[in-house]
Amino acid sequence: AVTRTFSIIKPDATRRNLTGAVTKMLEEAGLRVVASKRIQMSKEQAEGFYEVHKERPFFNDLVSFMVSGPVVVQVLEGEDAVKRNRDVMGATNPADAAEGTIRKSYAESIEANSVHGSDSDENAAIEIAYFFKPEEIVG
Ligand code: CMP
Repeated sequence: AVTRTFSIIKPDATRRNLTGAVTKMLEEAGLRVVASKRIQMSKEQAEGFYEVHKERPFFNDLVSFMVSGPVVVQVLEGEDAVKRNRDVMGATNPADAAEGTIRKSYAESIEANSVHGSDSDENAAIEIAYFFKPEEIVG
């Protein structure tokens, strides 16, 4: 089925002017950008977004990283969008990411890993609603 997922192009990628290169890989993987905006996340926004990770040892560093520069938040649409996006992103740790994936191509480290993508349809809906109003998504 055609579904939606939520994506973030992270500060390490925007800093290196890779917004277009990353988006091209998403599009070539069969995903369509149906909403997109470049934002500076606030600390509160980043903490709320990564709430599920708040007990993890990397939480504070992760929040600092995510507010260290602009990000591009996107809604992606396509056949089986969550899985399609996760496949093209590659493993969280670029050292484990397959050839041809975004993280293998561009990620700097497990933290500065260039992209975020929702891990389930349920979380995709929650994450999309966290950043976008329905009228900002144009399919
Ligand atoms: P993301 O898919 O956005 O979800 C949580 C983020 O935490 C992850 O990508 C990485 O950017 C970051 N992170 C930092 N260290 C780790 C770690 N050890 N394991 C998982 N995620 C980590």
